[in-house]
Amino acid sequence: MDKIVILTGAGISAESGLGTFRGAGGLWENQRIEDVATPEGFARDPQMVIDFYNMRRGKHREVQPNAAHLALAHLQASYPGEVVIVTQNVDRLHERGGASAVIHMHGVLDALLCNACGHRWGWPFERRLDLATACPRCADAPTRPDVVWFGEMPYHMEEIEAHLTGCDLFVAIGTSGQVYPAAGFVRAADQAGADTLEINLEASAVRSDFARAIIGPASQTVPAWVDALLRHRV
Ligand code: OAD
Repeated sequence: MDKIVILTGAGISAESGLGTFRGAGGLWENQRIEDVATPEGFARDPQMVIDFYNMRRGKHREVQPNAAHLALAHLQASYPGEVVIVTQNVDRLHERGGASAVIHMHGVLDALLCNACGHRWGWPFERRLDLATACPRCADAPTRPDVVWFGEMPYHMEEIEAHLTGCDLFVAIGTSGQVYPAAGFVRAADQAGADTLEINLEASAVRSDFARAIIGPASQTVPAWVDALLRHRV
């Protein structure tokens, strides 16, 4: 049976009400990446970083998975082959939409990481982050969100690379193709002989690396693509 690897980005959660990063109204328009998404920014002003993540965590509590998240969960449950979801998103909308074993390569909003000892632990959305939150293992404080920042290595890279070299179809959904290593996954899959498909609101920066593309809002394009795939292959 075929194996499908799906990479998602901020665009899949946009219609749920979570902002994307780039473009008009994106998170990086009002906030300097160096201030809130780098280890140096956290060392300089941890309160500013914690406020930024409390804002994002608060927003997460107000939103729901959309038809694209639900369609991917349906695909995972119904496809006779294997469907692996790798996401750059730190939200939990794939899981809340019913998806399983989601690989969060940029970490998650509902966990903390200790800079001193590397311990990682869950921190439910209902609780606020603050400077006094100490590591339960080594008592170091302040602790940081368990989110991969610029200049840091994404999580699960070996596992992802193994999935890419063993897949028959690679699909990227709602990602601008501007951040590596994720933007390079299409090439790895292509070199391994997989078919490649981009589903996005507009052509991404790496559009020419894909064999084909579907352009449009994810809440419409993804359910339609899943329906067609299940009709033809099941
Ligand atoms: P971006 O904000 O860079 O790109 C979002 C993409 O989604 C754009 O190409 C949009 O055109 C597209 N898009 C917007 N609305 C859409 C919709 N309704 N349906 C389909 N597509 C839509 O977000 P990412 O590519 O996810 O990293 O960004 C990658 C990484 O950069 C993030 O994980 C984050 C960020 O800095 C870290 O924080 C480490």
